[in-house]
Amino acid sequence: MIGLLHALTRPLLHALDPEDAHRLAVKMLQIAPLPRAPRDDPRLGVRAFGLNFPNPIGMAAGFDKNAEVADALLRLGFGFVEIGTITPLPQPGNPRPRLFRLDEDGGVINRLGFNSQGADAALRRLAARVAPSGSAAGGTAEAGIVGINVGANKDSPDRIADYVGLIERFAPVASYVAVNISSPNTPGLRTMQQAAVLDDLLARVIDARECAVRQSGPTPVLLKIAPDLTLADLDDVVGIARSRRVDGMIVANTTLARPSTLREQTRAKQQGGLSGRPLFRLSTRMVAETYVRVEGAFPLVGVGGIDTGGAALTKIRAGASLIQLYSSLVYKGLGLVDDIKRDLASTLLRTGRDSLSEIVGADAATITAEDWPVV
Ligand SMILES: Cc1cc2nc3c(=O)[nH]c(=O)nc-3n(C[C@H](O)[C@H](O)[C@H](O)COP(=O)(O)O)c2cc1C
Repeated sequence: MIGLLHALTRPLLHALDPEDAHRLAVKMLQIAPLPRAPRDDPRLGVRAFGLNFPNPIGMAAGFDKNAEVADALLRLGFGFVEIGTITPLPQPGNPRPRLFRLDEDGGVINRLGFNSQGADAALRRLAARVAPSGSAAGGTAEAGIVGINVGANKDSPDRIADYVGLIERFAPVASYVAVNISSPNTPGLRTMQQAAVLDDLLARVIDARECAVRQSGPTPVLLKIAPDLTLADLDDVVGIARSRRVDGMIVANTTLARPSTLREQTRAKQQGGLSGRPLFRLSTRMVAETYVRVEGAFPLVGVGGIDTGGAALTKIRAGASLIQLYSSLVYKGLGLVDDIKRDLASTLLRTGRDSLSEIVGADAATITAEDWPVV
């Protein structure tokens, strides 16, 4: 059904401007009578950050920026959905055009710049849906796992206060909060990954998490990083994340790099963050590099260029307990989620394993010993 829907709509969506196509896809998810995906194979279940994920595949941040279609995405079979990035106040983002498909490469470049309807609109929508799993309102497993990705307003006088305020406001309705300091499209945002700033940010963010626990129960806080960090930067980031006791990390956001191997060299000159297949090797290397530094202190979410079951497996073997995708859905449609689940389940069956946790990080040491991927 989903495959058929995609086959029918793909030519139309690809004929449109990418941002109009995205808007239409969200609209279709809001109105289409969607079939509920079959119950997941129990072997695909993952326990992480105190939450029980029915399967490890999440919708990455950026698709449902304003919390409009979380339930539709869960219905289609995602194990979790990350809303956002949400900023405290509404803001328009950068001027259009700001989203580009690199069809020949299976890539996407975006410089959206946190276009957001703001916290009030997203809160209203989230409060109206059933309480998500792990949230204070006594969420049930049926409600599904919905995380909130938060960011600072472009013109904010105090960016750390933006993150803290969003954690306080969203903790009661979110399964987890992702602190996004890795978008390349808000000037200066990535500098928050520098040691002194990050330590200050995380100290205050974790304080907010602890206050929220008392009022609304536990809300795990994850840190989303850029794939363009140097390994020395990564040493600092992981060290601070561990000492401040974050609950997990999401590796990684889009890259500013432009692989010389890209076929769409003209489009590749567009400013912004590159995602999709061209990001796969770099982001997978960063997952492995992060995994060996984290030493099991918390789980990782691996994201970047996953477009097949094999790629999902590689990301998990590099160190990801959970995975997310976005760009590949533009090319392959939502049926990809089912394909990946089927591949993962059959790999477990073939290798006589009961759960994916047995292979998380199995290849991290090998991957970190390889030559640095050319991007
Ligand atoms: C159009 C677009 C918008 C995005 N917006 C956000 C965002 O608002 N916040 C965020 O943390 N990541 C955002 N991302 C990054 C994705 O969440 C993900 O980290 C990245 O695209 C790599 O995954 P992929 O190769 O599967 O797309 C966006 C990506 C795309 C393509």
